[in-house]
Amino acid sequence: MKTLLVLYLCVYVAWAQDNLDYDDYGTDANASNKNATTGTSVDARGHRPLMKGRESYSRNRYSPPPVGGVSRYRGRPTPAPVGGQQVQEKEPQPDAGGCTHASEMMGVLCPTGCELKTTLLKQETDVKTSINQLKPQVDDLSRSSNNIFNYVNSMSNSLRERQRVFNDNSRVVSQYTDRVEEQHAYIKETVDTLFPSNIRVLQGVLDKIRLKIQKLEKAIQAQKEECKEPCKTKCPIPVVSGKECEDIFRRGGQDSQMYLIQPDAFTTPYKVYCDQSTQNGGWLLIQNRLDGSVDFGRRWDEYRRGFGNIAFDAGKGHCETPGEYWLGNDRISQVTKMGPTEILIEMEDWTGAKVNAQYRQFTIQSEASNYVLAVDGYSGNAGNCFLEGSLELFGENRTMTIHNGMMFSTYDRDNDNWNPGDPSKQCSREDGGGWWYNRCHSANPNGRYYIGGAYTSQMAKHGTDDGVVWMNWKGSWYSLKAISMKIRPYFASR
Ligand SMILES: *[C@@H]1O[C@H](CO)[C@@H](O)[C@H](O)[C@H]1NC(C)=O
Ligand SMILES: *[C@@H]1O[C@H](CO)[C@@H](O)[C@H](O)[C@H]1NC(C)=O
Ligand SMILES: *[C@@H]1O[C@H](CO)[C@@H](O)[C@H](O)[C@H]1NC(C)=O
Repeated sequence: MKTLLVLYLCVYVAWAQDNLDYDDYGTDANASNKNATTGTSVDARGHRPLMKGRESYSRNRYSPPPVGGVSRYRGRPTPAPVGGQQVQEKEPQPDAGGCTHASEMMGVLCPTGCELKTTLLKQETDVKTSINQLKPQVDDLSRSSNNIFNYVNSMSNSLRERQRVFNDNSRVVSQYTDRVEEQHAYIKETVDTLFPSNIRVLQGVLDKIRLKIQKLEKAIQAQKEECKEPCKTKCPIPVVSGKECEDIFRRGGQDSQMYLIQPDAFTTPYKVYCDQSTQNGGWLLIQNRLDGSVDFGRRWDEYRRGFGNIAFDAGKGHCETPGEYWLGNDRISQVTKMGPTEILIEMEDWTGAKVNAQYRQFTIQSEASNYVLAVDGYSGNAGNCFLEGSLELFGENRTMTIHNGMMFSTYDRDNDNWNPGDPSKQCSREDGGGWWYNRCHSANPNGRYYIGGAYTSQMAKHGTDDGVVWMNWKGSWYSLKAISMKIRPYFASR
């Protein structure tokens, strides 16, 4: 297991080295003991004001409206009178996420094994190329050393010959002999010192490769041990499944916890957290922040695939506690394009006060259009950041903070509305997360997590309001304790 860890670490380090120059951040312990808005002046940030006379701002680009039309769902039937709590059926499931090992004899790997497999394959090519590079060198070396041995031999022979022939005439010959002897000595030295040192270097390389192979063998052995038993998920997944959480609710999955969903027959089922109690349930959690345990300053690929922890078992034997995660833009896009979808954004400050923002329509386009955001139909008490921008700002400054119609941006893929094409003007680099940045934001749910709420521009990496911000509730310099985004197929309730 240790070697596995070491291996994993190596890979991670290698990966981290080719990371972009994004400043990673840890939690800032000092965030909690400072006050940002010490009193009077409210410094509204979020936008990037125009440089007078040098820049112009245009937010006009085509963006498709949210998916509307007829819902796939009708209102829920009135619930049957409650007569004793129904117990939901659950069963521990072998985790199906395995993949086959490159060598068939080794069978199917546990999901963790897939990581190892990738690592092994990568290492194998490394070793192969080193060996391939070494081969011609070794061949050359042995060829040239053979030649030189032959040369030295013949030289020695001729020396002996000459010594015999010119025995009597040694005075005449001695000068010549001396030279031949010199050369002989020189070549002999070369053979004695240079070649051994070359060979020593090669030996070292070989030893390293041998060591590498040993490590890999150990890791494989460890993995084999782990895979003896079929892998079990940490907590049982309910048997009931569905297209999304509303479907699951209607099929009887009415406890809030982790479920497997499968939006269509072509999609591999995946785990999500379903909130089945808020506003009658049926909510699929697509984003969640609650303790800063997951880093949201991530690349495009990670936002596409999703990251974080879906749910935990807090002792009840099933995964009823959601973790911090981003479901993944591909999945969010797929689910929201199946039909009219609503979104509920709930947030909480550090005193425990709670507000929410809800949009009756919410659609994310596919990656081909950089996951354009479209919302409509606001209600709630947190403030309409997506459609109106920040109410602390005015005119064009406010327009710059509207999120509706924006493409998704990450620090390695800039699609925002702040001087497109200028690498020094990227909202995502400065504001901490992947988001539908405009120029730049009024809401920043994927921003940096500050413990305690209030923070200052001095504490921010780039002096910008990079916290978990919802400007229309708490302003730029207050980072929320918790925020979550949940979606549900829209249907008119009866
Ligand atoms: C927190 O800030 C204080 C001063 O305000 C400083 O002395 C201390 O070193 C800081 N602690 C950390 C962990 O940054
Ligand atoms: C921080 O803010 C709190 C509440 O707004 C206030 O009671 C406290 O005095 C402030 N502390 C400082 C150092 O400004
Ligand atoms: C926009 O913001 C800049 C700087 O923050 C400010 O100078 C300017 O007056 C603002 N414009 C409007 C219309 O409020």
